[in-house]
Amino acid sequence: MTARALNLALRQLDSTLAALGPVTFPGDTSAGQHYQPRQLHGAPPGANVGWTTGFWTGQLWLAHALSGQPSLRAAAEHQTDSFIARQEQGEDLEHHDLGFLYMLSCGAAHHLTGHPGAQAATLGAARRLLGRFLPGAGVIQSWGTLDDVAQRGRVIIDGIMNLPLLHWAARQTGDAAFTQVARSHLQRTREHLVRPGGSTYHTYHFDADTGAPLRASTHQGLADDSCWARGQAWGVYGFAINHRHVPDMGLLDEAMRLADYFLAQLPPDRIALWDLSLAHDSGEPRDSSACSIAACGLLEIAAQLPEGAQRQRYHGAALDLLEALVQHCAGEQPASGGLLLHGVYHRAANLGVDEATLWGDYYYLEALARVEGHWTPAQL
Ligand code: GLY
Repeated sequence: MTARALNLALRQLDSTLAALGPVTFPGDTSAGQHYQPRQLHGAPPGANVGWTTGFWTGQLWLAHALSGQPSLRAAAEHQTDSFIARQEQGEDLEHHDLGFLYMLSCGAAHHLTGHPGAQAATLGAARRLLGRFLPGAGVIQSWGTLDDVAQRGRVIIDGIMNLPLLHWAARQTGDAAFTQVARSHLQRTREHLVRPGGSTYHTYHFDADTGAPLRASTHQGLADDSCWARGQAWGVYGFAINHRHVPDMGLLDEAMRLADYFLAQLPPDRIALWDLSLAHDSGEPRDSSACSIAACGLLEIAAQLPEGAQRQRYHGAALDLLEALVQHCAGEQPASGGLLLHGVYHRAANLGVDEATLWGDYYYLEALARVEGHWTPAQL
C-alpha cells in the first residue's frame, strides 16, 4: 500500500511542479484543492517569503533523491539558489522557522549534492536562529523582532522542530554554543509547554529578562488550555528528533508521552480533528497534516528504540496512521493537486481549512519514503 501511495504522491508533485514551473513557490496551502503561486506580505506572486517555502523545495529534493529525475533536481537547485539569496539579503527571516526553511532546502542540497553556497547559507540561518536566544529566559523567541513587546519571550511548541539546524551547525563548526542554546530551549519547553498528562500548550510567555514563567496561550488552537493537534505532533517529532542529538536529556520519553496522548485522542478513522480537545462528533474539520507529522515522529521514535515490543508498538502505530492517511486523504489529479488532502492551517482565521498544506505534503512524503526504506533526512 505504501509503495503505491508513494508513486501517487510523486506523480502529484510532478503535476504541481509542471503547473507552477521551477521558479514559483506555491501558497502555504492549496486553494480550492490546487496550489497557486503564493501571495504573501505584499511580495510578488510566487516569491520566496513566509515560513513554508522550504517544504516545497524539500519535497523536490526528496523526490529527486528517490527518483533521480533531472527536472526535479534542476528545480530544487534553482530554488536552493533563491534560499541562498534570501539568507544573504535577510528577507523575511525575523522568526524561528529558520530550521524548516533552511534544513529542508539548503541543508538537503548540501547533503545530497554539495550544491555551492548551500552550506554557508544554512550556517547563516543557524547563526540567525542563535541570535534569537534570550539568555535571561533561556529560550529562543519564536516570533517577531526581539524588541516586539507582544512577542518578547514567547515560545511555541513548534520551535523544537527548528533546533536540528543548531545541532547541524554545531557539528559543522565545532562551536558548542549552538548545542547549549538548543539544550536550554528544549529544557524550558519540556518544563513549561508539556502538561503532566502528556498534552501540550501551543505557546508560552516567559519574562525575557528574568526567565520567570508567565502564562500559557494559544494562537491556532481552540483555547489557551486546549491541545492543538498540530502543535502536539510537532512536539512528538521534535522531541524524538532532538533525542538523536542530545541523548542524555531523556527526550525520547517525552516524545513517547506526547505520542501516547496524541494516539489516544484520535477518532475511529485515525485522522485527528484540528484540536485534540474537540469532540469526535463535533463536525469540526480534520487536520491530516498533524497525522503526517506524527507518523514521522512515531517512525523516528521506533528507529531509536532497541528491538522489542515497545519499538514494534510505535512502528505499528506509525503504519496505522499512514494507512489511514493513504485511505482517507491521498490526493489525486484532476480533483486535487496536493499530496495530502484535509489539512487545516488556522481554523479561527479561516485559513487553509480542508486544504492540502505544504508541510502536510512534505511529512507525508517523508513518512512514505521512510517506510519504503529510501530516505534519511539531512537533519538526523
Ligand atoms: N508552525 C506553524 C504551523 O504549524 O502552523
